Amino acid sequence: MVITYEFTLEPDNNKVITYSYVTRDKCIVIYESRWYHGKKFALEFIVFLLGGIKMIEKVNEIKKEFEKTSSMITDMKTLNDIRIEYLGKQGKVTELSKLMKDVPNEDKKEFGMLVNDVRTIVTNTLDSKKEEIETKELNEKLSKEKIDITLPATSVKCGAPNILEKVVEDMESLFMSMGYDVIEGPEIEEDLYNFELLNLPKGHPARDSQDTFYLEGDKILLRSHTSPVQARVMLEGKGQKPIRMVCPGKTYRRDDDDATHSHQFMQIEGLLIDENVTLADLKGTFDVAAKHLFGEDCVTRFRPSYYPFTEPSVETDISCFSCKGKGCPICKNTGWITISGAGVVNPKVLQMCGYDPKKWHGFAFGFGLERVAMLKYGINDLRAFYLTDLRQNKPFDRKEDK
Ligand code: PHE
Repeated sequence: MVITYEFTLEPDNNKVITYSYVTRDKCIVIYESRWYHGKKFALEFIVFLLGGIKMIEKVNEIKKEFEKTSSMITDMKTLNDIRIEYLGKQGKVTELSKLMKDVPNEDKKEFGMLVNDVRTIVTNTLDSKKEEIETKELNEKLSKEKIDITLPATSVKCGAPNILEKVVEDMESLFMSMGYDVIEGPEIEEDLYNFELLNLPKGHPARDSQDTFYLEGDKILLRSHTSPVQARVMLEGKGQKPIRMVCPGKTYRRDDDDATHSHQFMQIEGLLIDENVTLADLKGTFDVAAKHLFGEDCVTRFRPSYYPFTEPSVETDISCFSCKGKGCPICKNTGWITISGAGVVNPKVLQMCGYDPKKWHGFAFGFGLERVAMLKYGINDLRAFYLTDLRQNKPFDRKEDK
């Protein structure tokens, strides 16, 4: 049966002619020809496959084709490509359902069921394929990552705390337990704090032993000891309150590097200011620190010395822990080892830093940290602390730190 409709769109011979043709198996073919100014310029045809054998055939055709392609899916990429080919915006199944709007009402249900059927098949198959691939990929990954626990383990190289840092921490905690604060001071220092306020005016001969690196003229320098922190802390205290502080840190001097000297080294400074403080308090404090560092049987002694900022000044010695005082290379056969400079704070310094020497007294000390570490851990070359050669540092890795 052929039904022909003709619509005239505009008076000047523009028209659309629609021919409808219904076949025996309910296949409707619609041809549409468009005319413009008396000329045919387009021929379009739309094929509706509605119900009946033809529709099933069309669906089956898509299903069969899908079965074939889907059986070849072995990886995610192909799977995703095929998902787009069938279920994407312009996918084969999606195109089928787009036809729904043109399907006559009485056939919509049947058409819908058929399209849904094919959509369900495609979706389910792709989902289970996806699961299959994921499981396969996971198994492959797991089998590759299998750990053979019978293999010998690769040893993990474990670092050790820096030995100087260990000594610093150890001394900090000791002094903190005695009520001292831990203070930090600047490494780039002013001449004022490093020398002047410590009773080392310009031209003072004791400056020679503390020659350092100057950054700007003769005012700014790398501190040659941690003692400037004494001046800073006293000025901060404004002569009003007692002081107990230790200050560890880097110091610098214009020394040629050798086994016992370095242009950069570390000190820990100590300062105690209070009323009625004497040299005996310094002796007691030093004795506690020495025993803490080198063992209970360590004996201490003071030797007279000179520092412009302490009066009297002493060199503090410990009995040689190696030979117990008999004499050996470590103590250069003297039985004693010097580990710090110390003394009673010079009244001039107290005055310059705002503390009334009639009321306040104090003591100060400065340990050379490398020296303590070298003695404590049997290191015989100071340069070893500043080398980056791990083999050099290895002997200092102590078991107790791991
Ligand atoms: N600052 C002195 C030095 O570096 C050590 C010291 C500190 C001496 C405190 C006395 C008091 O040599």
